Amino acid sequence: MLQRTLAIETSCDDTSVGIVSFDWQHFVVEKLVAFSQIALHQQYGGVVPELAYRSHADKIVRLVEELGGTEIQKSIDFISVTAYPGLPGALVVGVTAAHTLWASRWIPVIEVNHIMGHVFSVLVERSLAALQFPYLCLTVSGGHNDLYLVELRATTKEQWAKKLTSKHEQWIQDSEKTISWRHKRMHLAVGESLEVGIYTVTKLWQTVDDAAGEVFDKVARMLGGPYPGGAWIGQMADTARAKDPTLFGTKFIDDVYTMSFSGIKSQVHTYIEKHHSGQMTQEQKAEIARSFQDAVIKTLCRTLKRAINTIVPASVGIVGGVSANKRLQMQSMEMIAASAPDKNVLLFPEKLVYCTDNAAMIGVVWHLMTHRNDW
Ligand code: KG4
Ligand code: ZN
Repeated sequence: MLQRTLAIETSCDDTSVGIVSFDWQHFVVEKLVAFSQIALHQQYGGVVPELAYRSHADKIVRLVEELGGTEIQKSIDFISVTAYPGLPGALVVGVTAAHTLWASRWIPVIEVNHIMGHVFSVLVERSLAALQFPYLCLTVSGGHNDLYLVELRATTKEQWAKKLTSKHEQWIQDSEKTISWRHKRMHLAVGESLEVGIYTVTKLWQTVDDAAGEVFDKVARMLGGPYPGGAWIGQMADTARAKDPTLFGTKFIDDVYTMSFSGIKSQVHTYIEKHHSGQMTQEQKAEIARSFQDAVIKTLCRTLKRAINTIVPASVGIVGGVSANKRLQMQSMEMIAASAPDKNVLLFPEKLVYCTDNAAMIGVVWHLMTHRNDW
């Protein structure tokens, strides 16, 4: 039977809602509408939480209405909503909207972990079979930069049926209250795991300081670019005449999956102060952007390569806002092709919109949490 979810994502600066279904083993995005707050925060050079909360509250009802009227909402089986991690006030808007819909339509609410959304975002508009396990996933965005291992848990049919039945019973028993099925943890520490349906997701490593997207944004600011600056840095880097300027280096400690980006950011800052205390030409900016981008990508690819060699995953994913970076996509594909092309399949989200924060990925996690389709 075709099942549908109404998915809501409001964890940071995108208000995104959509309808996702699972049809013939395929994750289908029936509708996706969003409001981006970039213009609102741009003048401040970063997300201003208070403005973000107000904007989510302002837009959420209209966006849910855009999905369709009562008839559409009646055909929804679950509401899935990002509940953590994220800006607290922003999350409250999404969760409140979900629970209000529950109260008016009696549709159960599934609270979803935002990072799990990114991890499984490679399944949006793809078939479940696109992902093989063990699956190694690098999440790279403005707020997080982690490495996850996703494994299939050995679960018997009976165990799974019992789990689902007890949840359904609970929904019926508690029908006077707001019902939700939630992940207990807010943040995973390195080494900790979370269950997503029949999958176990373990955090293997994380950046020891800034996330890559965050340094893209900060370096863009140093170069007089817009906020957010990731895409702009990519475009500037493409215009550099010197194709391999190595102004900035990276250090790599061999025995851990090191990821550190604040050192690269400091190098850019010192370089600009030393060499360009006055105005910079476009070419100088392009060269800095190119060299900076290469240093970040080198760090990401080396970490990934090391983890691939150790774990030998069946699928590898790079997800989150920075995964939209064309050069990162190219370099990582080359890296995989040179190491074990027959063993690993490298996946990026199907479309740019699924790299950055979006409700469709939250809808996919709803399905994985509540169904299993391999029998
Ligand atoms: O996943 P996302 O939308 O939000 C967070 O959860 O943080 O990621 C946003 C980040 C920003 O830092 C932005 O500069 C970066 O992703 N980004 C890029 C590109 N497009 C977005 N970074 C590098 N290259 C890009 N093309
Ligand atoms: Zn995100």
